[in-house]
Amino acid sequence: MKLFIDTANLEDIEWGLRAGFTRGITTNPSLLAKEPKGNYLAHLGKIVALMEEHIPPSQRDGFSLSVEVWSDEPGEMVRQAVGLKDALKWKDVAIKVHIDHNGRENLAVVRELAKRGIAVNATACMTVYQAMAAAAAGAKYVSLFWGRIRDGGSDDKFFVERNQYIEAKKVRITDFDPAIAVRETRTFLNNNYPNAEIIAGSIRAPLDVKDAGLAGAHIVTVQPKTLRAMLGHFKTDEVVDQFFNDFKAWLS
Ligand code: E4P
Repeated sequence: MKLFIDTANLEDIEWGLRAGFTRGITTNPSLLAKEPKGNYLAHLGKIVALMEEHIPPSQRDGFSLSVEVWSDEPGEMVRQAVGLKDALKWKDVAIKVHIDHNGRENLAVVRELAKRGIAVNATACMTVYQAMAAAAAGAKYVSLFWGRIRDGGSDDKFFVERNQYIEAKKVRITDFDPAIAVRETRTFLNNNYPNAEIIAGSIRAPLDVKDAGLAGAHIVTVQPKTLRAMLGHFKTDEVVDQFFNDFKAWLS
């Protein structure tokens, strides 16, 4: 399982790159909108500049940067994707295409970009079907939104829609368990589209990272605050304090 960092914040990206344990960066329009207002291409260019500064040429292959289109019109989505790919001088740029929006699925966009040799990250997938269809259309990555899949099973707001889906035999209540969604998607991908990779996104807590990895996600993309929370441990603090104190006492 590889770790990606899920942010558009330059300081956090630089921290992740310096620490060296992430193999990619995922952004989305909401993450970009958290940054100071300005030219989005210039901001994305700064992310690429940080990657060039901190990743040695020998380690750049496969280091992925995902950026998302922000239109619902297929021709415009392709235009934005091509523009982003051309503007960002980084080999492994993946264009995030939302798999569906209000019943307008974007498989033809995924297919068109794949035909043009542009890596696609099919984003906002909530079901095995969406992920499978995206992989079949040529997506390199399928992003299953772990936290939002789980929320969909319990959020009161979606009670009626959830029940309609269940009655229509589109999903079972267990399909709102993200571990099941990831595990089943991995099985289907292994059998049919072994080159496509699952990115588990919408990660809320350190335990989600482990659970997503064990469920079969190839990649887990994690917000910086959760990445930081994963690393510390009170017993690590205790033992390091002990080492320092013992050695200082011996030196004095
Ligand atoms: C993943 O690529 C997305 O950027 C992200 O994880 C979205 O999830 P969230 O909006 O629930 O955090």
